[in-house]
Amino acid sequence: MIRPQNGESILLAAAATTTIESLCADLEGSMGGAGVLVKSEDKVGFLTDWSGDLIGNAVAVVRPRSIAEVQECVEICRRHGIGVVPQGGNSGLVGGGFPPAGSREMVIINLSRLNAIRRADAANATLELDAGCTLQKAKDAAHATGLQFPLALGAQGSCQIGGNAATNAGGVNVLRFGMARELILGLEAVLPDGSLWSSMRGLRKDNRGYDLKQLFIGSEGTLGIITGLCLKLHPRPARIETAYAGVGSIEDAMTISALARCELSELVTAFELIGTECLPLARLIDKGLTSPVSSVYPFHLLIELSCGKRLDGRALLEGFLADMLARGLIGDAVVAQSERQARSFWAIREGLVEGQARRGYHVRSDVSVRLGDVPAFVAAARAFAARDWPDWTPQVYGHAGDGNIHFNLLPPLGMHRRDALELGLRITESLFAIVEDFKGSISAEHGIGRARIGAFWEGLGEVERRTMRAIKNTLDPHDLMNPGCLIPVLEEQE
Ligand code: FAD
Ligand code: LAC
Ligand code: ZN
Repeated sequence: MIRPQNGESILLAAAATTTIESLCADLEGSMGGAGVLVKSEDKVGFLTDWSGDLIGNAVAVVRPRSIAEVQECVEICRRHGIGVVPQGGNSGLVGGGFPPAGSREMVIINLSRLNAIRRADAANATLELDAGCTLQKAKDAAHATGLQFPLALGAQGSCQIGGNAATNAGGVNVLRFGMARELILGLEAVLPDGSLWSSMRGLRKDNRGYDLKQLFIGSEGTLGIITGLCLKLHPRPARIETAYAGVGSIEDAMTISALARCELSELVTAFELIGTECLPLARLIDKGLTSPVSSVYPFHLLIELSCGKRLDGRALLEGFLADMLARGLIGDAVVAQSERQARSFWAIREGLVEGQARRGYHVRSDVSVRLGDVPAFVAAARAFAARDWPDWTPQVYGHAGDGNIHFNLLPPLGMHRRDALELGLRITESLFAIVEDFKGSISAEHGIGRARIGAFWEGLGEVERRTMRAIKNTLDPHDLMNPGCLIPVLEEQE
């Protein structure tokens, strides 16, 4: 049932008289049987997250094929006073994409069947597409125009471009191209009242009033359902050079990152940090993975440089690394001699994430601090873990070039999952307190969802809370869109 906000009673009255049967009948009448899943066995794949840590619940999973069907579905749910949860590829890691078990009744609107490429415009360097296209499909379509869409993340085969916009996704190329926010020129969304809002002009410069699309980017499905996007494409690099290096300390890693940015004139597209303790986890996925560098270093770096054909990227990167070696900042480095070798470097980075998931439940974080604070933050987090949770194993990796660290902790082998989950909440709370000591962010890229809503809301000042609540109330006065995600339902707030 919709909870009252601003004295609203229309939806409450509707919800009180609604039955699930009549809601489903209306949805099926509008969408057709195949577009509405109500049986538990049909819904289950939409109600479990990638990690397997979270299990949800929903009255129905609806899969519209057109914008008009999205609008109808929103309208039906609004009439019945039932909340809707937009869902993309369901690769989010914070429980935003489906209602949690035990929550009030809600309907999932899954966008996967709204997946057409609308228009690739090479002259304008833009790509217009439906929100349900996977990120990989968007990248392939961009590639076919001779350009590139540079957003890149481990889940790109399954996450959707609408989900990327809704979470303002980051990934490994933020350093050069920015977050999803900086790669979106236009957006189209069905609002909670069923109307369609659009800014799909594909303009690089447009100063007509508030930039409303930015409100939807990062809103995690709480303000509307994104149905279409106009993406900003970039030149496709003729050369991509990839290096793997071993370094003695995180301080050295951050010094190299700063030097690489300056000396390589912003050609660096990725600067990833891998704590050496993560390597065994990558080997859980591929036993054959070996470290490209000669000995064991506390940290490894994955550095990628991209440039056009008139620049000798290989020589630039090799020269830079030679200098870093001569200065004692790097212990050893290898530049990939083939695309295959470069892929084997990336397999370590991607494997460690999957390996942690295969190991089972673990504390997962995606925090950020100012670049200069990265070494002190990691030292503080490690010291806390060693002191308070000595039998948990820290895993440090991430997008160091952006000050975004995934500081994860694996529970002791054999610990009961229920105990690990309970302790994990306490550990996360302390970790977030350390992040706050550094005035950092508890979420640099994955978002708030439902998993972090308490910590997020507690960390906000009164003015921030009031402003966020005002935006939500203006667009979604009945709390119809993804209730309980990002913005607490009223009674649970404060
Ligand atoms: P979902 O999981 O379906 O939904 C996420 C949120 O967006 C939910 O709140 C949902 O309601 C909302 N939403 C989804 N689609 C829409 C829509 N059309 N309109 C309105 N709201 C919508 N994230 C990063 O930022 N960087 C990474 O490097 C990264 N790496 C990852 C690696 C792995 C292996 C995995 C599993 C995840 C990773 N993620 C990463 C997290 C995840 O992939 C991103 O958050 C992604 O953007 C989510 O897209 P999705 O389509 O799967 O969204
Ligand atoms: C990554 C995800 C987990 O960086 O954000 O691999
Ligand atoms: Zn990440």
